[in-house]
Amino acid sequence: MAATDRKAHWQNVYTTKAENEVSWYEDTPDLSLRLLSEAGLMPEMSVIDIGGGASHLVDTLEASGQAGIAVLDLSDAALDTAKARLADASRIEWIVSDVTTWTPDRQYDLWHDRAAFHFLTAEADQQAYVRVLTEALKDGGRAIIGAFAPDGPEKCSGLPVVRYDAESLQAVLGEQFKLLKSERYQHTTPWGSVQNFQFSTFEKLPEHLPR
Ligand SMILES: C[S@@+](CC[C@H](N)C(=O)[O-])C[C@H]1O[C@@H](n2cnc3c(N)ncnc32)[C@H](O)[C@@H]1O
Repeated sequence: MAATDRKAHWQNVYTTKAENEVSWYEDTPDLSLRLLSEAGLMPEMSVIDIGGGASHLVDTLEASGQAGIAVLDLSDAALDTAKARLADASRIEWIVSDVTTWTPDRQYDLWHDRAAFHFLTAEADQQAYVRVLTEALKDGGRAIIGAFAPDGPEKCSGLPVVRYDAESLQAVLGEQFKLLKSERYQHTTPWGSVQNFQFSTFEKLPEHLPR
């Protein structure tokens, strides 16, 4: 899918549907919060939510006093929905960009992605994502990526996705990322259907270390 079509698709979703009318909606991102905590998130650290959309993850991180919070999404309409809920949206770094063409100007301790990476079906886009992840994450930083599992849906928001288990995700991320843990998760959509996800946590290894 071309980058312009991708942006138009998501802008249309977020300007025509309420935040709880989309399949991926969740009131409280309990699993993401637990995985961030298990990955070592401390209050003084920085975390970026990739394809964060209108997710409530930023609300909880902001309310808990997390020091560095960034949310990246290609839809500014999605980010506007999230901003409008927050008491102090100004201390969040809001980034309107396609992740595959983003140039990070700093590095983060943690990278979180729930259901964004799996939309990248072209190998060139997947490689661009891995390049950006490698640039944006500190050495020793953790990346938590949640995607539809091999027995999950074949589409999300009407778009085809690539489904992953930990091994296939590891193969795309490459040797600089070490798999720390992976777990299956069943998300229940607002209309009661169940979607199988796989959430995997990786550590970014320093480039010069033997593996
Ligand atoms: C299924 S939604 C998940 C939203 C959010 N992570 C959550 O869990 O509620 C996918 C999100 O990824 C964003 N997205 C899709 N492709 C993207 C890309 N190439 N770059 C940045 N964001 C993207 C969409 O705009 C959308 O907000």
